[in-house]
Amino acid sequence: MARVFSGVQPTGNLHLGNYLGAIRNFVPLQDSYDSLYCVVDMHAVTVWQDPAQMKTLTREVTAAYLAAGIDPKKAIVFNQSQVAAHAELAWIFNCVARLGWLNRMTQFKDKAGKNREKASAGLYVYPNLMAADILLYKATHVPVGEDQKQHLELAHDIAQKFNHDYAVEIFPQIEPLVLGSATRVMSLRDGKKKMSKSDPSDMSRIVMTDGPDEIAKKIRKATTDPNALPGVEVLTEKGEVPDETRAERPECWNLLGIYAALAERALSDVVAERAGQQFSAFKKALTELAVEQLGPVGTEMKRLMNDPGYIDSVLADGAARARALAGPVLAEVYDAVGFLRS
Ligand code: TYM
Repeated sequence: MARVFSGVQPTGNLHLGNYLGAIRNFVPLQDSYDSLYCVVDMHAVTVWQDPAQMKTLTREVTAAYLAAGIDPKKAIVFNQSQVAAHAELAWIFNCVARLGWLNRMTQFKDKAGKNREKASAGLYVYPNLMAADILLYKATHVPVGEDQKQHLELAHDIAQKFNHDYAVEIFPQIEPLVLGSATRVMSLRDGKKKMSKSDPSDMSRIVMTDGPDEIAKKIRKATTDPNALPGVEVLTEKGEVPDETRAERPECWNLLGIYAALAERALSDVVAERAGQQFSAFKKALTELAVEQLGPVGTEMKRLMNDPGYIDSVLADGAARARALAGPVLAEVYDAVGFLRS
């Protein structure tokens, strides 16, 4: 069976972008693929994390996976640091990836900011660890938001170079699964900025544990423009939003995309239905839909967070199953590299 791998960092403020761009899409895949969903705590520490918070945030991502509908009996749910082979394969990949490849990674540039000299070495080699996550299980399909596509291209290049240099066929091709109409959810305050866990403004994002009042307030205050909602005539024949059209009204297209994703309907369908409507009315409908869709997930997350023993047992079981899959692949890699094993 083809295998799926994906991961989310335990860095707090899990938001609507993480949910619509990634976590929710993991759920149906568990029925048709052998799937692994990881809490990537080793990626999280590439920027400073408060040690007192790490365990709670690791459990929070696990709770989000389970609350969204991932069944830990079907999928393997675990945290990365419990499977040492991730770090071991990442080291090999540090020796395969070229500096020139890493220098092109836009996420490193964004995260390191102007003060590049002060960024951790881990942040720089972050994509190599990500390639290791996926390839350690020979996963072929990776559901992610749009911002991770460049990292997946790098993982693909690493796999190909490894196979080529060592004249083996160990690693498969990787296919990104960028699914739904909210693959890049934007900030509610500024439609040109991605919705992010680290935005200083809480009003920029809906978090997965927000209650109805918070959701309503954030949508009511979301930045919009004074015009009514557009009609389907501005869409392409395929029902997509041309880049120039999106750039003219980024906040409007963001809210429409969120609505379509939450309703699990085509964007063109939603645009046709809402054409000419004022934002005040549309925001009411969006609030109702968001509360209906997110409310039960947030409530279940909170319930699970009150039972850390259960969450930890899910992670322990998942880690044991992941180790069993990873061991033989790492052995194959070490053999190809020529490491002596006595
Ligand atoms: P992280 O924790 O930043 O994000 C988790 C997932 O959420 C998606 N995402 C978004 N989707 C739509 N709109 C947004 N505004 C938005 N913000 C985030 C991300 O694309 C991601 O799918 N590097 C990964 C974690 C990772 C990983 C992996 C993923 C580590 N190893 C192996 C796949 C496979 C990350 O930054 O996640």
